[in-house]
Amino acid sequence: MNIDQIFANNKVWIAEKLKVDPEYFNNLSLRQSPEILYIGCSDSRVSAEELMGAKPGEVFVHRNIANMVPNTDLSVMSVINYAVSYLKVKHVVVCGHYYCNGVKAAMQSQDMGILNPWLRNIRDVYRIHHNELDTIVDEELRYKRLVELNVQEQCINVLKTADVQKAYKERTLTVNGWVFDIQTGQLIDLKIDFDKILQKIMEIYRII
Ligand code: CO
Repeated sequence: MNIDQIFANNKVWIAEKLKVDPEYFNNLSLRQSPEILYIGCSDSRVSAEELMGAKPGEVFVHRNIANMVPNTDLSVMSVINYAVSYLKVKHVVVCGHYYCNGVKAAMQSQDMGILNPWLRNIRDVYRIHHNELDTIVDEELRYKRLVELNVQEQCINVLKTADVQKAYKERTLTVNGWVFDIQTGQLIDLKIDFDKILQKIMEIYRII
């Protein structure tokens, strides 16, 4: 895909949108009221809106390597704050994906330079769940399970924030852990029981 092609595509896209609705871009410029905050991986194969069939204006998106929610990352924390407290989204989604290179790198003994502290957050997920993960002999299955458990732990990081705790308590917000399977195109809801998980850990993390 070359740069000239991108600008040519953009012209086609504008014409298609205006053909259906001449006011499309005027209306788009007025406001945004997305109901979903999507936190996903930067992986080029996992296109947030396209796999959900979502249109511009419907999803507030944050992507980084391996869909992480580190508690000290100002970028993801600002996105959560803005989406929950100002845009008042109804759902927060953390979407991981099988065959995630970030998760794979964290399973290997390799010096990745500047990526080391980022990937260490995934190694911490492994340490928290090593009892379960170490029982999985098949390496590919263990890798897939780590992808799922990483989603679960990043959802818990979402739930540690004051904005989310407030909205979650008022039942105006749901937190959802999903995995996208690149091999089949399927979006899988991990159906994580956060009420149950929170019962055990909320005494530690409650701040409101
Ligand atoms: Co990835």
